[in-house]
Amino acid sequence: MTIVHVTGARPNFPKAAPVIAALRTHGLDQRLVHTGQHYDDKLSEVFFRELDLPRPDVNLGVGSGSHATQTATVMVALEELFLADRPSLVVVYGDVNSTLAAALVCSKIGVPVAHVEAGLRSFDVTMPEEINRKVTDALCDLAFATSPDAIAHLSREGVPAERIHLVGNPMIDTLLAHLERFDPAPVRAAHGLDGAYVVATLHRPGNVDDRAQALALVQAIHKSADLAPIVVPLHPRGRARLLELGFADHPGVRVVDPLGYVEFMSLVRGAVAVVTDSGGVQEETTVLGVPCLTLRPSTERPVTITHGTNKLVRAEVLADELRAVIDRGRPEGWPVPPLWDGHAGERIASILADWLAPDTARDAARDRPATPATPATPATGQ
Ligand code: UD1
Ligand code: UDP
Repeated sequence: MTIVHVTGARPNFPKAAPVIAALRTHGLDQRLVHTGQHYDDKLSEVFFRELDLPRPDVNLGVGSGSHATQTATVMVALEELFLADRPSLVVVYGDVNSTLAAALVCSKIGVPVAHVEAGLRSFDVTMPEEINRKVTDALCDLAFATSPDAIAHLSREGVPAERIHLVGNPMIDTLLAHLERFDPAPVRAAHGLDGAYVVATLHRPGNVDDRAQALALVQAIHKSADLAPIVVPLHPRGRARLLELGFADHPGVRVVDPLGYVEFMSLVRGAVAVVTDSGGVQEETTVLGVPCLTLRPSTERPVTITHGTNKLVRAEVLADELRAVIDRGRPEGWPVPPLWDGHAGERIASILADWLAPDTARDAARDRPATPATPATPATGQ
């Protein structure tokens, strides 16, 4: 029995760490594949230094490219790997191209796939991640959901109920496991911040690839930086575009390279607010109780609005929203989504271990050709 975890990009690593750690207690053989989609130290290696993650057994070194090139390169390399040494199950995380590539390869060669963070939907198909999520969920044998809305989406798309498990959020397991390490004081000092400050992250293609939208963002961030200094650990995507548009030409805007996980979370923990278009950051601010203004028209994580500190905002109103947040201050108490309690990895590991345990009756059922479902009676009676 070998479980293979496929990771590749920054958000995958804090999601995989608690699952891998929890599976160790079940005594299952595990291997970690890094596709190499992300390769800069601060987008990849730093997570292996700071989190409880084993060294990857294999790094496919695929690097950057167009969607087709990157996805296809991962697929070719994974197919070769899995045909040579067939895993019992492959676990994929989130919604990046490496996730999709692994799910496609496994489903075609008959290796079962478990998807961690299944069922999230922004309903915005201009997002590459939305396509990756929908295809991965359609192909996976086990769908691990972080929130109840995800269950509803999966059910509506025809994923059988027995494949779906509400387990909580492994990204939050990692946050809670390292909470004591998130100390804003030294990080504030290192960044020369002695009063209220904001942290911003921007990397969505819809925000930074389009020149007009990027310009609107630059203006919105500049107006907001009149209210408080804004530290921006800038992702490589869009970096050149934003800088060319004068992003850093405001005394309140501090552009820095992407930060290591502990430094980043320490900075976020001490911020008066966060401005972001990241998926994970919407979740982390929800648990830390830091007000989060998300520069996007939609979110696949509505639970961070209903239960957390998140609000979707347009660039035009960002400064007004930030002023209101600064005036209001941090919330005293706020609801946290159900099961975001630090134990998602353990739940996932138990379900995987049960699923892999020998069960002759179940295996025979799996090997039988699927019986076509009885067509439902049309509601109209026609
Ligand atoms: C990817 C994910 C996105 C996720 C983000 C997290 C897809 C389709 N997108 O976006 O969902 O939110 O990661 O950070 O999978 N680059 C570097 N160094 C690196 C990696 C990339 O400089 O280590 C640069 C390259 O110029 C590359 C560009 O960033 O072309 C984009 O990288 P890519 O992995 O294709 O997508 P991201 O925008 O990082
Ligand atoms: N992160 C980090 N340093 C940074 C920015 C982000 O360590 O400078 C972490 C943070 O935990 C975040 C995760 O990386 O949740 C993934 O971030 P990203 O925005 O790249 O991906 P997304 O969640 O949008 O797919």
